[in-house]
Amino acid sequence: MNESPRKILVTSALPYANGPIHIGHLVEYIQTDIWVRFQKMRDNRCIYVCADDAHGTPIMLRARQDGIEPEQLIARVSDEHQADFAEFNVDFDNYHSTHSDENRFYSNTIYERNRVKGHISNRTITQAYDPVENMFLPDRFIKGECPKCGSPDQYGDNCEVCSASYSPSELKDPISAISGATPEQKESEHFFFKLGDFESMLKEWTQGGHLQDEVSNKLDEWFRAGLQEWDISRDAPYFGFEIPDQPGKYFYVWLDAPIGYMASFRNLCDRTDGLNFDDFWARGSDTELYHFIGKDIIYFHALFWPAMLHGADYRTPTAIFAHGFLTVEGQKMSKSRGTFIKARTYLDHLNPEYLRYYFSAKLGSNVEDIDLNLEDFAARINSDLVGKVVNIASRCAGFIRKRYDGMLSETLSEPALFDEFVQAGKSIAKRYEGREFSHAVREIMALADRANQYIDEKKPWVIAKQEGNEQALQDVCSTGINLFRLLIGYLRPILPATTAKSETFLQVPPLTWDNLATPLTGHRIAKFKPLMTRIEKAQVQAMVDASKEDLNPATPADQPSGPLVDDPIADTVEFPEFARVDLRVARIITASHVEGADKLLQLTLDLGGDTRNVFAGIKAAYKPEDLEGKLTVMVANLAPRKMRFGVSEGMVLAAGPGGKDIFMLNPDDGAQPGMRVK
Ligand code: 2FM
Ligand code: ZN
Repeated sequence: MNESPRKILVTSALPYANGPIHIGHLVEYIQTDIWVRFQKMRDNRCIYVCADDAHGTPIMLRARQDGIEPEQLIARVSDEHQADFAEFNVDFDNYHSTHSDENRFYSNTIYERNRVKGHISNRTITQAYDPVENMFLPDRFIKGECPKCGSPDQYGDNCEVCSASYSPSELKDPISAISGATPEQKESEHFFFKLGDFESMLKEWTQGGHLQDEVSNKLDEWFRAGLQEWDISRDAPYFGFEIPDQPGKYFYVWLDAPIGYMASFRNLCDRTDGLNFDDFWARGSDTELYHFIGKDIIYFHALFWPAMLHGADYRTPTAIFAHGFLTVEGQKMSKSRGTFIKARTYLDHLNPEYLRYYFSAKLGSNVEDIDLNLEDFAARINSDLVGKVVNIASRCAGFIRKRYDGMLSETLSEPALFDEFVQAGKSIAKRYEGREFSHAVREIMALADRANQYIDEKKPWVIAKQEGNEQALQDVCSTGINLFRLLIGYLRPILPATTAKSETFLQVPPLTWDNLATPLTGHRIAKFKPLMTRIEKAQVQAMVDASKEDLNPATPADQPSGPLVDDPIADTVEFPEFARVDLRVARIITASHVEGADKLLQLTLDLGGDTRNVFAGIKAAYKPEDLEGKLTVMVANLAPRKMRFGVSEGMVLAAGPGGKDIFMLNPDDGAQPGMRVK
């Protein structure tokens, strides 16, 4: 198949070294690991490296809070991360740290080469400064009142209540989230990477087939907005690398983070015969370099990173593969709902292969978010993996073992069916290569259905009772085992542990894409042991419950959680948010039935001059004629909603258990339409 194997270097984004791996992170590591395992199965030389992202203010503060040195913190977290990854069968060829000699070397080199070419500028800027802690404050460490909606306790870059973005200087009554002191404005010299110098190179690169279409389109927007100089320095105290010849100035964590990809690879080269750093990083090299990332860090990887590399005379990536976020039950992961599930908590309750399979069944090559629906998750594993795939082996293995001492037939009795399965491998391989895992899974499951159908038709359990049909029984079961072997081979990148158990059962060396096409004939298989068990609802529930127990109050040193995670208090409504609800007295001018609607009445409401059309689900409780002329309370600033019967321009307030017992809120007679209620 492969004339000359491809040489491929693959990375996943480096997780921050101050927090645990959670199932949101795992989407990416599982996606990358599957792709890498597929490449290895194709006999390509594929190397997968990663590292902990160990620098930055949050890590420095977290260590301080725990009363330890940052080095101790990052060593502990690195061990935890690696244990989690190993148990999820994410098989890195090397796992390193950005706080390493190799990373210091390449960070300095890339900075220095860009500086010599004039791509680094410096100037004095003014920033918020904590006079108690004697440190400059990153935006996320300043809190205050939102300048747009007045909500208290909002971060310096955006408001979690009204989603406004602003600069920290706009916050009202700002305080340092570290000491509580009022920040001062202080000047300091900073160093900038002149991204604009690379505009033409980047325009060409981003249009050169290295990015997904939706990502290139996003970049066009950024080009139109203009490429800004990037501040790559931070003042002491900072946990990171000091900039050469600039005492007290450090590289910003995002400068040395992607360089960590090189550092990890270098570290591997230094321990591996025949692996040459320049083969993968020198400009003009013919090897392939891929970065798997989340859609939130595209800017860093598709603009800064290729520009920095180019400026330092290194090669640029072959492609950046961005994916979407994970939602659980259609919502952001939530600590209060128990859907912020740490890798460790998952592992305490469930088999990692289930999650690998479920993510595969959902993942495509685009940047769309994927959803984990826990009921669907259990149903899918039970029906696809346990009910279809593993079942094929268990239906056939017993007969082969008991009647034929484990021996499969000498020849294939159904070569056409076997060949159909082999041929399907071409399309499945294309799906893997193109990261269309959900399609690969669909095609494999269609084959599994076909295999089960074959066994259903042949009914080996009936043949087994017929005398003189020994050969037929062995042939049918041998075909079943061979079809199972192809299916599990195709699933190998997704289910490495189940495949390893299957290889033991089949008594074969590790399956590769090439050797799959040769059937197992005249071959002895081992005793069948259950390869995978069903998911019980109770296991899933226990995991959710344990995730609720994991709840810890957020601390300022927590890594900003970004768009993946909501806060425990998100399920309550803060007063300012509630205050935005405009409750008004309204008079019901007309009320009528809505044709075709079981529950709705259509109301025309007078708000003291302004009239509104509102659909209300109160038909069981009120006759339209009883409502006309009455006063009620309505939410006047609810955004209009398009319903099946028309647009509803607000909501009337009612209370009660439902059905006939819904009581409209009726203000006193003294109220006037349009009057505010709170
Ligand atoms: O967003 C993050 O979690 C970063 N730690 C990713 C860094 S990826 C690479 F650039 F190192
Ligand atoms: Zn706000």
